[in-house]
Amino acid sequence: MRLENYHAVVTGGARGLGAAAAKRFVAEGARVVVADIDGEAAAACAREIDSTGTLARGLACDIASADECAALAAEAEEFFGAPIDIFLAHAGMGFAGPLADADPERIRRVIEVNVLGTLYSAQAALRSLVRSPRASLIFTSSLQGVTARAERSVYTASKHAIVGLTKALALEYGPRGVRVNAIAPASTDTPFLRTQLEVAGATDVEQAVRNVAASMPLGWLPTPEDFADAAVFLASTEARSITGHNLLLDSGASAGIFKR
Ligand SMILES: NC(=O)c1ccc[n+]([C@@H]2O[C@H](COP(=O)([O-])OP(=O)(O)OC[C@H]3O[C@@H](n4cnc5c(N)ncnc54)[C@H](O)[C@@H]3O)[C@@H](O)[C@H]2O)c1
Repeated sequence: MRLENYHAVVTGGARGLGAAAAKRFVAEGARVVVADIDGEAAAACAREIDSTGTLARGLACDIASADECAALAAEAEEFFGAPIDIFLAHAGMGFAGPLADADPERIRRVIEVNVLGTLYSAQAALRSLVRSPRASLIFTSSLQGVTARAERSVYTASKHAIVGLTKALALEYGPRGVRVNAIAPASTDTPFLRTQLEVAGATDVEQAVRNVAASMPLGWLPTPEDFADAAVFLASTEARSITGHNLLLDSGASAGIFKR
């Protein structure tokens, strides 16, 4: 129970890595708001975590809207009856393919969600977090926040922005008691990864997932549970002196050039 009586919000929490973190937060003693652009999926996820509705609530929120982010923070405070202690700004979307061929509308939406949406989430979260005595803002960046990848240009740019934001806000809000960190997963086996592989042209997605795993020094992909472990660690007092850090969860992929 490393998060006993903490109040946590997870954006993009209805499935994948966000859902794993939301579940683990509650298992560690927290109450949680699961926020997602898909409000029904967020509500279903919250019910799955706690059918009584006491420990978990699902809310609809498109992080690309500053107003919806502000409403999310207000509704979360109302549910908790207290300020937010942990805000996991996790929601994001992918981009794959050559930039020259990309639909400008797709480019705009990826930047709108991953960069503007993350900024709006952070802004709304910080207004509450500054009133918590154990505040932790955690972003989900990516391996593509530190190393680039061909045919992921817009995504890479957006995730580099999040790593910069982590450092800037750690400096800005450290004196006000808010720790700001990021988790940078490499490819993790979620619907997000499978969609990216399909968009990139994989015909056998299972084989493509196995190929990605084989390309990692450890030989396996990080799991959603690994991600939840990292989120609990960064939110807990075990990380009380850690801020401005981008925690690579990448099975060694960023360590250097690896060939089996
Ligand atoms: N899975 C991976 O391999 C991987 C690797 C590195 C980073 N990430 C990052 O993790 C995050 C999501 O990954 P996942 O694997 O959990 O994905 P996922 O597709 O399983 O889940 C993403 C969730 O975010 C929600 N969402 C999308 N746009 C939203 C918006 N505008 N507002 C609110 N919610 C929104 C979706 O409805 C979905 O429930 C992204 O930030 C992504 O960049 C994922």
